[in-house]
Amino acid sequence: MREVPLPHCEFQPRPYHGPTADEVLALRREFLNPGIFLYYGKPLMLVEGWMQYVWDETGKRYLDALGGIVTISVGHRHPQVIDAARAQLETLQHSTTIHLHPAAGEYARHLASKLPGDLKVCYFVNSGSEANDLALLIARAYTGNYDVVALRNAYHGGNAAALSLTAHSTWKFNIPHTFGVHHALAPDPYRGPYGRDDAQAGRKFAADVKQLIDFATPGRVAAFIAESIQGVGGCVVFPDGYLEAVYRFVRQAGGLCIADEVQTGFGRMGSHFWGFATQGVIPDIVTMAKGIGNGYPLAAVVTTPEIGRVLAQRIHFNTFGGNPVAMAVGKAVLEVIECEKLQENAHRLGTRLLSGLEKLKQKHVIVGDVRGKGLLLGVELVKDRARKEPATAECARVLENARNNGLLLGKGGFWGHTIRMAPPLCITQADVDFALDVLDATLADI
Ligand SMILES: Cc1ncc(COP(=O)(O)O)c(C=O)c1O
Repeated sequence: MREVPLPHCEFQPRPYHGPTADEVLALRREFLNPGIFLYYGKPLMLVEGWMQYVWDETGKRYLDALGGIVTISVGHRHPQVIDAARAQLETLQHSTTIHLHPAAGEYARHLASKLPGDLKVCYFVNSGSEANDLALLIARAYTGNYDVVALRNAYHGGNAAALSLTAHSTWKFNIPHTFGVHHALAPDPYRGPYGRDDAQAGRKFAADVKQLIDFATPGRVAAFIAESIQGVGGCVVFPDGYLEAVYRFVRQAGGLCIADEVQTGFGRMGSHFWGFATQGVIPDIVTMAKGIGNGYPLAAVVTTPEIGRVLAQRIHFNTFGGNPVAMAVGKAVLEVIECEKLQENAHRLGTRLLSGLEKLKQKHVIVGDVRGKGLLLGVELVKDRARKEPATAECARVLENARNNGLLLGKGGFWGHTIRMAPPLCITQADVDFALDVLDATLADI
């Protein structure tokens, strides 16, 4: 495969003196949960990061085009985020919500200012799974209903509640996991029954949610939950009008609408700060994680004062929810997104990346579909375009070759056949052109 040079970078990583990758792998095999998985035939060990780049133990540099699985929003080790965390760590590392601390309220006010309508009451937790679990609790307590509609091909996390929402057999353990949860058709215009050539696709996919409410529930539901773009499911973008129609059906059935913005929030969409806004809807509850903390364990559920009040029926507590260091990090992340105009950057460079990927689709028949918004993009690989047979092994080879050429990509989709790209929002045009060049070379090699 032709070698593509990485864009220039001034930053010099420190020399690495720790254990070798083989030693780390041996430790992991003996002492860590065997359920965690690794990318690549020869696992990659990362020891340092700076903005959009990461380095392995040999000093080799990579463009992190998956952003630590859609988590690095403003850049690895962003100085403003580090300074905010350090200042708070050196003052008061931990305090819980049983006492006052200025950070949580200040950050919540800033976060609420980014949300539309009356979405302003924030509950802080530590992970996306926890946020979705809490959102379900709030919806069920508020509505008095139990049934929930989620989507096939969804990923909402791995704890017991989130696993009930997640809809890939690959993630679901054989336990009573979907009690009260019904999965509607994934509104996938590439693989679903209604394609991009169908202007009514959004309305038709939404009709399946109505069918589920009518035929699989008591006619009353607690909630509908969806990612605004299905990330793990392979960057599936819903047809226009889909969420608007679904939200109407769900509200008619007494339910709340939950937007899982774990991957799509915080400016990544480019055109909008939140993914739901690209569909012209306002949810009742928004869950967020990953990019909110740029790699720090921070997540949140935001709802309206009226709905949020329901948690006051009982004692509700989360030890690290509202931790001052997490709050300082979250506030710094929002400030960096604003000061460095990262949403605008996501829009400009996401548009360039998407149009470059479209050109690769014209050139390489293995590319079945290209899609996404801003800097959350997917390239679905198929063995042949008519039958759309997933090209799983080929996708793994693209990832390997790209890695060898200094580009870290992700994969998703039920068959692991969709290349996923979600770089830090601080990437440059040179990075985008590099990624496209590497992809072109690897696809030509397949
Ligand atoms: C859309 C979405 N929701 C929820 C989660 C779960 O987040 P966490 O891994 O922080 O529990 C993920 C994780 O990948 C996700 O992509």
